[in-house]
Amino acid sequence: MRPSLFSAAVVPIVHLAASAQAQSSSSATATSTYLPPPAASGTVASAASASPNPQWSQLLGNSLYFYDVQRAGKLPDNFRVSWRNNSVLNDGKDVGLDLSGGFFDAGNFIKATFPLCWTITQLSWAAMMFGGGYDAANQTSYLDETLRVGLDWLLEASSQQDSLVVLIGNEGVYWGGDQDIPTDRPSYKITRQNPGTDVFGSCASALTSASMLYAGTALPLGPNSNGTAASLRNTTYSRLLLNRGQSLFNLAQTATPQQVYQAAVPQVKWAYPSTDYADELVLSATFLAMATGNKSYIDYAQTTYTASHFPFSNGALNWDQHTPAAPVLLAQASLMDAGLDLNTTKYQSDAEYWLDLILNGQMSQTFSTSGGLFWFKGDSDSASLNPSLNAASLAVTYHGMASSTQKGQGYLDWALSQQDYALGKNPMNAVYSVGLHPNSAQNPQSALASGGTDAANIDSSPPTERWVLYGGLVGGPDKQDNYYDQRSDYEQTEVAIDSNPPLMTLIAYHIQNGDADPFYVSLTQPRVILPYPSSGGGGGLSGGAKAGIAIAVILVVIIIVGLLGWWQRERLRTFWRRKRLGLKA
Ligand SMILES: *[C@@H]1O[C@H](CO)[C@@H](O)[C@H](O)[C@H]1NC(C)=O
Ligand SMILES: *[C@@H]1O[C@H](CO)[C@@H](O)[C@H](O)[C@H]1NC(C)=O
Ligand SMILES: *[C@@H]1O[C@H](CO)[C@@H](O)[C@H](O)[C@H]1NC(C)=O
Ligand SMILES: *[C@@H]1O[C@H](CO)[C@@H](O)[C@H](O)[C@H]1NC(C)=O
Ligand SMILES: *[C@@H]1O[C@H](CO)[C@@H](O)[C@H](O)[C@H]1NC(C)=O
Ligand SMILES: *[C@@H]1O[C@H](CO)[C@@H](O)[C@H](O)[C@H]1NC(C)=O
Repeated sequence: MRPSLFSAAVVPIVHLAASAQAQSSSSATATSTYLPPPAASGTVASAASASPNPQWSQLLGNSLYFYDVQRAGKLPDNFRVSWRNNSVLNDGKDVGLDLSGGFFDAGNFIKATFPLCWTITQLSWAAMMFGGGYDAANQTSYLDETLRVGLDWLLEASSQQDSLVVLIGNEGVYWGGDQDIPTDRPSYKITRQNPGTDVFGSCASALTSASMLYAGTALPLGPNSNGTAASLRNTTYSRLLLNRGQSLFNLAQTATPQQVYQAAVPQVKWAYPSTDYADELVLSATFLAMATGNKSYIDYAQTTYTASHFPFSNGALNWDQHTPAAPVLLAQASLMDAGLDLNTTKYQSDAEYWLDLILNGQMSQTFSTSGGLFWFKGDSDSASLNPSLNAASLAVTYHGMASSTQKGQGYLDWALSQQDYALGKNPMNAVYSVGLHPNSAQNPQSALASGGTDAANIDSSPPTERWVLYGGLVGGPDKQDNYYDQRSDYEQTEVAIDSNPPLMTLIAYHIQNGDADPFYVSLTQPRVILPYPSSGGGGGLSGGAKAGIAIAVILVVIIIVGLLGWWQRERLRTFWRRKRLGLKA
């Protein structure tokens, strides 16, 4: 579930991070610039003795490279993405801030705080467990850069007393490069008087988890094993992040009414509307308890957890919904700090409740595709790999904390099955990370990479993407496991900053463990190329027929909205957006 395409945008001023290549950390020096190798290298088997595994290391490197592609604002000298330019230098000026930096959210040019916060949280959390993987692959300096671009932007976005910018840009139709981005880019913010409990909380989680990472915190992987933190150390930065995390949490906790942020800023509704805020409250309070040892945070986390009837039996984990992550983080907090006086057994059992429903095929609204992709109805209809990989990332995070070794192994095996699916073990023989392997997806929806400027013909203009979007993870196949590699089909092909982190958890895990090559290296069958089905199922429908279908679709969608609940709202929004863009309904 994500918003689509195109947004308006443009211009202003200085950039926060002095130099992207600047190292904040002691041991994280990149000896040379990492550039993604050609896709053919994805077929080269690694020597069994090679350590760290070159293929996993390359995948981690590519996955981080994607964040450089997505950068906004003034770019550092000698920037490694040679085809990117400075852009949107005036972002934030309308509210007196310099928000020129940060990341473009997805295939379009908006900047969205809510998914950015989950991105940073996931990256930081995993880097406190599997950070040895980043170090071994020499990617820690790029992790640092990526985190700082996001964190510095969040610090600026929250630098005015009691307020946080939650979105820049609007739903305009712009398809083109980084030089002509429309300049109409309003900044929307939430404040103490007009709060968004969810985004305050999510931002608090991002800053606090990153603060722990920059303090060198390693998290337990289980009762008898500790993870490794990536070697980022900067006490000053860590304190700064923690202080702001505390302020934002205070806003989430005390600003009234507690509400979802689109209630405060209806203008964000089309982009990343939020379902709830209790999950963000629980996670942020738990991270703060872990960072400070202050019991008042954990009391608040537990009270909110209980009052909100966690654990929920159903539901995906993603940029919006973090409920399934809550018991996992609480279980980890209990192992990390006995002083927090948490009941490990309770949180294990809650975490396993959700995971077991998935493994046993008992979660409602879910199924496994015939090719083996875990599917959450509604959520998986757009960016299908995202709910699957988020669940996989959580399963890997949790498996060492499980109530039995056997259960833990089951979670791990399941997680690896989803990871393998994304990396080529699927009916399409498709590798869903761009530029990694000859079977990689070729047409990610990315206005930056495509090189096209014709919004009405983004599939054919140009026929081949101008630049290879190395490391971008596309949305994923449909529920028949079909992937059409069609740029205009954003549900399948769009890239986004929150798409990579769950896969990166698994990658870092493998590198840290010294595991052998990923699945795609042994993939010799060619990718299955499917003709794109026309919108009516047949060819050449008249405009009238298309309009009729469109009306029917609207009616059906409205009925579904009524019947099936909140998540279907996305489809309606999508419909209108696509209609406006002249894309298929
Ligand atoms: C630590 O972070 C601060 C804040 O970003 C920065 O000014 C400083 O240069 C960093 N220190 C080192 C040693 O990298
Ligand atoms: C990482 O850097 C070290 C020091 O330059 C080098 O010996 C090693 O081969 C590099 N490893 C990878 C995976 O690039
Ligand atoms: C960056 O600028 C160059 C030179 O003007 C241009 O050719 C290129 O398309 C721009 N890149 C993007 C992503 O728009
Ligand atoms: C894990 O780390 C904690 C805190 O640093 C330490 O007390 C504990 O002994 C470690 N456990 C293992 C199994 O190494
Ligand atoms: C713990 O955090 C609360 C805010 O949630 C604060 O009022 C209190 O002073 C903190 N206690 C300590 C010991 O820092
Ligand atoms: C901890 O939680 C478990 C499972 O919910 C429960 O059976 C047990 O009584 C709890 N222990 C304490 C000390 O509350």
